[in-house]
Amino acid sequence: MVIKNITVLGSGIMGHGIAQVSAMSGYNVVLRDIEQQFLDKAMEKIRWSLDKLVSKQKISEEESRKIFSRITPEVDLGKALKYCDLMIEAVPEIMDLKKKVYEEIDAVANKDTVYASNTSTLPITEIADITSRPERFIGIHFFNPPQLMKLVEVIPGQKTTKEILDLTINFVKSVSKEPVICKKDVVGFIVNRIFIPFVHEAAWAIDRTKASMTEIDSTVKFALNFPMGIFELADFTGLDVIHKATIEMYSRDKKVINPHPLIQELFDKKKFGQKTGGGFYEYAEEKYARIDLTEELAKKIEPAKIIGTILNNTAWLVTNQVSDIQEIEKALNLGMGLRKPIFETAKKIGMEKIIRELQTLHEKYGEFYKPDPYLLTI
Ligand SMILES: NC(=O)c1ccc[n+]([C@@H]2O[C@H](COP(=O)([O-])OP(=O)(O)OC[C@H]3O[C@@H](n4cnc5c(N)ncnc54)[C@H](O)[C@@H]3O)[C@@H](O)[C@H]2O)c1
Repeated sequence: MVIKNITVLGSGIMGHGIAQVSAMSGYNVVLRDIEQQFLDKAMEKIRWSLDKLVSKQKISEEESRKIFSRITPEVDLGKALKYCDLMIEAVPEIMDLKKKVYEEIDAVANKDTVYASNTSTLPITEIADITSRPERFIGIHFFNPPQLMKLVEVIPGQKTTKEILDLTINFVKSVSKEPVICKKDVVGFIVNRIFIPFVHEAAWAIDRTKASMTEIDSTVKFALNFPMGIFELADFTGLDVIHKATIEMYSRDKKVINPHPLIQELFDKKKFGQKTGGGFYEYAEEKYARIDLTEELAKKIEPAKIIGTILNNTAWLVTNQVSDIQEIEKALNLGMGLRKPIFETAKKIGMEKIIRELQTLHEKYGEFYKPDPYLLTI
């Protein structure tokens, strides 16, 4: 099977970016949303992004025109799916809505069309099973913004065929992205399984160590080699997104996160982070700002006290044959911007020290902190 025609459902934050990236690699794209006004906005954003690439001399005006003309906005679902080889769904992260949308799609799609969902936290197999073609259904998790982020997690459901997996991997490569395969449809896939629990863990670290937010964030940035602090990253991502992911992940697997009440509290107060002027930190007038973190502040807290959960969740993925270390390190680098492999960082801190910390937490707070057997082999 050859993919030529892509249909992207949902023209929001992710959908318009996926449409642009696909058109830039030569695919014919139909971008579908439920109202023309949403499509107009999305096409405006794509225009703006292409203009920026022209001004930076990354593409020519002629190329920009061609790319733009390859994207057809469409409200009618039947028309949008008429010639579709690969349908990428990026509608809001609400299971009931997704299920309703797939029922509508099934009524009009060609029997050969491949279905791919951009969901970040919903189980692929559960969505696939309500469609007419679970064997031609797959997870294709782009990161935000798709125009810039290199990583795409590819998640086969329980019934996805090898042919569809290979086809999807080739598609991801063809749009100049790096696929990382999440071999099993596990909660949070790879990156969110590590990122979301770590936000909660950092909040627990404040309680346990009495360190300040900037001290913990400085350690995360300078000792764990993150591109920024974890509270800073959470504010940048949005506490609404993190809260939603927490609910979805925790409702399916109680062992994946040790939820800290502060995340719920910030969500209830609508303190979503940068975009609302405050989250973990306060920001001036919704303006993008970086937090002042220093190597000096990083010396105040022992990194072994905060890295354990990241390693445990990483090790869990290996023990359960979801992925291997090399692929996970690639995902953490491309999806979260880690400057060094996390296991390299861990070895520098001292594996024995980290395991001792986890064992102490295990004795005090229970199963969640029990060191994964894989960690004991390193
Ligand atoms: N925003 C992120 O950072 C991010 C990152 C990775 C993955 N995701 C996932 O991508 C998906 C979309 O997220 P988003 O942030 O782009 O959402 P969004 O709210 O920005 O956009 C969703 C769009 O879908 C449209 N829509 C609703 N019902 C529709 C239908 N029946 N047919 C077509 N369009 C419909 C909405 O009008 C809206 O324009 C979600 O599953 C989300 O979990 C989001």
